[in-house]
Amino acid sequence: MSPFAHITGWGMAVPEKVLTNFELEQMVETTDEWIVSRTGIRERRIVSDDQTTASLAIEASKRALEIAKINPGEIDLIIVSTSSPEFLFPATASLVQDQLGAVRAGAFDLLAACTGFIYGLNIATQAIRTGSIRTALVIGSETLSRLVDWTDRDTCVLFGDGAGAFVLQAGEERAGLLSAIMRSDGSGRDLLYLPGGGSRYPTSIETVNEGLHYVKMKGREVFRFATRVMVQATKEAVNKAQLSMDDIQLIIPHQANKRIIEVAVKNLDFPMERCIVNLDRYGNTSTASIPIATCEAINSGRLKPGDHVVFVGFGAGLTWGAAVARWSGPFPRKQIVRPAFYNLYARLRSIINRILRRIDALILGRDNPYT
Ligand code: ACO
Repeated sequence: MSPFAHITGWGMAVPEKVLTNFELEQMVETTDEWIVSRTGIRERRIVSDDQTTASLAIEASKRALEIAKINPGEIDLIIVSTSSPEFLFPATASLVQDQLGAVRAGAFDLLAACTGFIYGLNIATQAIRTGSIRTALVIGSETLSRLVDWTDRDTCVLFGDGAGAFVLQAGEERAGLLSAIMRSDGSGRDLLYLPGGGSRYPTSIETVNEGLHYVKMKGREVFRFATRVMVQATKEAVNKAQLSMDDIQLIIPHQANKRIIEVAVKNLDFPMERCIVNLDRYGNTSTASIPIATCEAINSGRLKPGDHVVFVGFGAGLTWGAAVARWSGPFPRKQIVRPAFYNLYARLRSIINRILRRIDALILGRDNPYT
């Protein structure tokens, strides 16, 4: 029988800097009362100058690896889901792979906006279930604060920075991700998008002057779409796992807006107290929101081994999706992991590789048939 993809490690990383609604009142024409009543958000975390999407991803990943008790060298695949990658290319996942010292891992980025973590979980799960790989690291990491216009009150009050990571490992018992659905409707591409800097509108003085390098959003339409698809997606994923809503102990939704979550949960006829909401403290961290909320659910004892949990999200694209998991926890392992040692090793390895590449170029020079 094909193995299951157990979630054996989890970790989160959020910047220390807190930006409250009251501070936003000094920046744009808004009020704490408006933001709380329309969204539920009270504060969000914002990266400092030396933090990036990769650095948050690495911090969250190290915690996940420690919990799973695996060394980076055991990872076969790294997926970084992000809408705020460090560069268009190379993939942020490759930077994470290098800095973790995940020497055997393939690595790529996945862009499905806030639904990306669910897409990533499903793809990694399928790779494990087919036997193609045994261990995957799936990360959602965002620094959207660098992509929002801090003079646009429609968007800047919503987003925050952060990262979350899961380790997935092959296991025989029926646990881990049991089902997932992934959907998209590109006809809604203009409801939430960042037009500039890609190949359609390459960065130019004009694109910058027109502010095309900032997030644009039609909030009301996104709101209507979100409440509808969250209900549909949850029901479909639960059916696909051959379960009913009565079998579900917890829903961990994408943390965009408390009102969206409340409407969706009400329409599912599910008790709100069994739904995780932490957006009051982090805002919308896009694809990082589900793994961050999961870490907090575990730490507070709300997600326990044996529970069935639904992850459900929506975002730009438009995209949406849901997944059902049976929570199990880390495999019993005696192995001692040494994250600090590995980190040092990874840094040295990266530097040596770069030096060797330079020496190669110097020695081979013009004689190199590939130059
Ligand atoms: N402070 C004060 N007033 C504001 C602010 C603000 N920060 N932002 C907008 N307003 C004003 C608007 O200008 C509007 O004024 P008007 O009536 O004079 O035109 C008024 O408030 C009401 O605006 P609405 O758009 O009707 O407000 P709504 O109740 O829909 O709430 C919100 C807006 C919070 C954006 C909501 O629509 C929403 O959450 N939508 C979903 C957005 C979302 O989830 N996006 C992320 C998707 S995930 C991803 O892919 C990243």
